[in-house]
Amino acid sequence: MSSNSKNHKFLKNIKKYKFSEIFLKKNLIKIIQKDLLNGDLIILRSAFDKSLINQIKRYLISIGSNSLPKYYQLKNGIPNHHRIIRNDPRSYVKGCFHQFSFFNWNQDVFNFFEIFKKGYWLKNILSGNNKNEFLNINLNNEIISRICFQFYPAGCGYLNLHADPVGNHQLAAPILIMSEKSNNGDFKNGGGYVINTNNKKIFFEDHTKIGDIVLYDASIPHGVDIIDKKKKNNWLEFKGRWMMFFATNKVNDSKLIKNSKEINDVQL
Ligand SMILES: [Fe+2]
Repeated sequence: MSSNSKNHKFLKNIKKYKFSEIFLKKNLIKIIQKDLLNGDLIILRSAFDKSLINQIKRYLISIGSNSLPKYYQLKNGIPNHHRIIRNDPRSYVKGCFHQFSFFNWNQDVFNFFEIFKKGYWLKNILSGNNKNEFLNINLNNEIISRICFQFYPAGCGYLNLHADPVGNHQLAAPILIMSEKSNNGDFKNGGGYVINTNNKKIFFEDHTKIGDIVLYDASIPHGVDIIDKKKKNNWLEFKGRWMMFFATNKVNDSKLIKNSKEINDVQL
């Protein structure tokens, strides 16, 4: 480990639980809280249905293919929208991906905040908050919930190594796994990783199935390695990696939460 690594927390173990047991076994939340603080990555099996996820992907692909991407500053009352991020200089962390954002003040055909509410409950309870924290519709809130789907195209999709702020709003930012990483799956190489105590990239999609939720302390250095590097990039083919964040963000002009930060002092 490089000496500079003392500045960061790193991944220890991977632990797996069934998502359905979380709200049944009271002490499981406490166990997972402890795991997360210890630096473990948690995989919660079968949180959401694969056929629902595939239906959502088809819906997002049709929107992404047939309407113009558009940038919005994160503010109360903005429309649901999609945008393309290609090394955008406005980003705190550089990356290349297609992002689809949904807010609870807009209604949508899936009723996303209803079908995914248990993901937010989990996130809020783990962070020591009321399960419905940040989910009420109040256009004066400084911290807002955003259902954030991200598509990383084969041949170009990536996100640089970084750490996210942890605090009252989140201990971990749950990720919904929406693609299969395997020889015959959606992508073969790259994907989401977290740095472990040996300064190695641990690719969590090597351990997951579509519909699982992944959790880790968001301050542990992590990123997305380029998806199937050798493939020729074609955004409109929508071949690559999908995921979804149960995001909790501050509005654009708020100083309540620190910004995410790229990490340059970890030698891999
Ligand atoms: Fe992150």
